[in-house]
Amino acid sequence: MDKRPPEKPIAMELRESADEKLYSPSAARNSALIADVLSPVLPPDASVLEIGSGTGEHGEAVCSTRPDIQWTPSDPDELSRRSQAARARETSGLKAPLELDVSAVGWTQGLPAFDALVCCNVIHISPWETAEGLARGAADILVPEGRIFLYGPFLEGADTAPSNLEFDASLKARNPQWGVRALQDVTQLFEQNGFHLEKRIAMPANNLSLIFRRAQR
Ligand SMILES: C[S@@+](CC[C@H](N)C(=O)[O-])C[C@H]1O[C@@H](n2cnc3c(N)ncnc32)[C@H](O)[C@@H]1O
Repeated sequence: MDKRPPEKPIAMELRESADEKLYSPSAARNSALIADVLSPVLPPDASVLEIGSGTGEHGEAVCSTRPDIQWTPSDPDELSRRSQAARARETSGLKAPLELDVSAVGWTQGLPAFDALVCCNVIHISPWETAEGLARGAADILVPEGRIFLYGPFLEGADTAPSNLEFDASLKARNPQWGVRALQDVTQLFEQNGFHLEKRIAMPANNLSLIFRRAQR
């Protein structure tokens, strides 16, 4: 009988810590780049909900370039939320984190409407139900002009970068339910929930920024 403990259900990036704040080397590389793409897209005084915020560095980076916005980080993981809370205490516009698991049924219940949902590096490192819950929840929680910002690696058929194919294989070896998602599947999922892909922005290291917007009725 296999006596190994069950695999941790959520994945963490490699992290370093100082007091309660956690630091992720990948967030150190991409936070400013993400802030550059995202900040101009957010309307004045935007309220933003971030899903799977991890260390909280992305919200911190955007709030420091856009002091008008209100950014609420979230994560199912307690240590991540502590790191986000430590950053929120020091950063104007960054609010206390919420405990949110978007694969849970009814995760939007009791939340106010938001102008934007942000989700970086989450849907490939969790089961597909996470992407489904995110898209369903976005339809419930976003204002009519609301936008969804996704960041991470994606598969794009024959144009897929070899490093993303290798990453996909390594994720699946860790957990068969994980994997780099096909852009086509993600676009279709959001379309089924009433959003269209407004922008696809190539980012360093073969990542993409994707901006979805509600389709006109
Ligand atoms: C690889 S980390 C990315 C953290 C951060 N967004 C970044 O880009 O640095 C993935 C994060 O997604 C969170 N996560 C995993 N499954 C989730 C779910 N079902 N709902 C919300 N967050 C989830 C994890 O707790 C973790 O903090």
